[in-house]
Amino acid sequence: MGKKVLVVGNGGREHALAWKIAQSPEVGKLYVAPGNAGTLEWNVAISATDIPGLLEFAQKEGIDLTIVGPEAPLTLGIVDAFQKEGLRIFGPTQGAARLEGSKSFAKEIMEEAGVPTAQSRVFSEPEKAKEYIKHMGAPIVLKADGLAAGKGVIVAMDLDTALKAVDELMGGSLGESGKLLLIEEYMEGQEVSLLCLCDGEHAVALVPVQDHKRALDGDQGLNTGGMGTYSPPPFWNAEMEEEALRTIVHPTLKVMKDKGMPFQGVLFAGLMLTKNGPKTLEFNVRFGDPETQVVMARMESDLFEVLWACTEGQLKDIKLEWKKEKAICIVMAAPGYPMAYKKGIPIALPEVFEQGQVIFHAGTSLSQDGELQSSGGRVLGVTVLGDDLNQARQLGYALVEKIDFPGAHYRKDIGVKGL
Ligand code: AMP
Ligand code: GLY
Repeated sequence: MGKKVLVVGNGGREHALAWKIAQSPEVGKLYVAPGNAGTLEWNVAISATDIPGLLEFAQKEGIDLTIVGPEAPLTLGIVDAFQKEGLRIFGPTQGAARLEGSKSFAKEIMEEAGVPTAQSRVFSEPEKAKEYIKHMGAPIVLKADGLAAGKGVIVAMDLDTALKAVDELMGGSLGESGKLLLIEEYMEGQEVSLLCLCDGEHAVALVPVQDHKRALDGDQGLNTGGMGTYSPPPFWNAEMEEEALRTIVHPTLKVMKDKGMPFQGVLFAGLMLTKNGPKTLEFNVRFGDPETQVVMARMESDLFEVLWACTEGQLKDIKLEWKKEKAICIVMAAPGYPMAYKKGIPIALPEVFEQGQVIFHAGTSLSQDGELQSSGGRVLGVTVLGDDLNQARQLGYALVEKIDFPGAHYRKDIGVKGL
């Protein structure tokens, strides 16, 4: 009998994971909790952070493998809860998830592992932080310690902005997440998202991706969760990947294992390609969104098999296969995103798709009349393959034109940095 799989989450990342998992010949039944309008056929109405609810469902249904999308359930300890009941789950434990949940913890681990990263210091008092900033000068980077949904980092190009940023981040609007502040050296270069599957000891890199974090063309405007991605970035090569695995990923896995927190799941290193090689901007402990959309579009291997191997500690026998085509994902967001935005905007999608083209849903739902509508900030991820990046861009934007989503906000320059 086919295996039963549960995907936890409701974003574009989870639609992409579910879409890929559903293609596995080994999978008999798929569920997504809670999912969105793109994953309707698989949805179960349990919130991604309702850990007792998810656990009860997995036990009742006899789920063979649970795959966790977002960071919130991981930092709440979903993996520990499932493992305690003998259930197989892909993702790091609560302790290991602190690599994303606490930037100061991540820095400590990086330091211990000798991982190349920006120099930084941690402050609990705003006045001390300001003194230090005046001493260091600008440009300089300020980061709230805890999770802040993309709002916790301010890259200050001048001193005035930097001093104001201390009050913004520590002033209370971020709650516990703003209690500690990291002040970090400014680094320059191209950014690359390197997602690695890990089984506690071994790591396998997925294809490299470049995200576009700012809301507006030309990397202007506010930081967002990500406005689009493409893969592979042409300025990344096999030697850099080898260097990143050797200097960043493997030493981190070793330290985590030595500390009794072996890392199983996705270790997602946000890298800056500096003049002196790849340096770590941050760790995430999960698949990226919208990185996953282009990674899944390019993946030839059976995702179910690979994630299963991770949970077995058998990753070293796995060799991943990829499509040669390049991929792009253009995020269509609600007007206003990442500031306040309207929900319930009606959306009409094309009925037929070309080979190698898929629209992953993120913030979508069905209205009371069963019509497709927006229900979040990032709404759709238009994901397309092409023989080269230029073609992928052309086909991607042509597909965007076929979508009826009034007022949709999207960037016109996804992938341009890779041309
Ligand atoms: P993070 O959440 O730490 O990845 O930071 C969000 C974004 O801020 C990154 O994607 C970078 O564009 C920028 N950033 C973070 N740290 C630095 C740094 N040390 N130097 C320059 N830019 C940074
Ligand atoms: N796209 C960046 C992230 O998933 O954190």
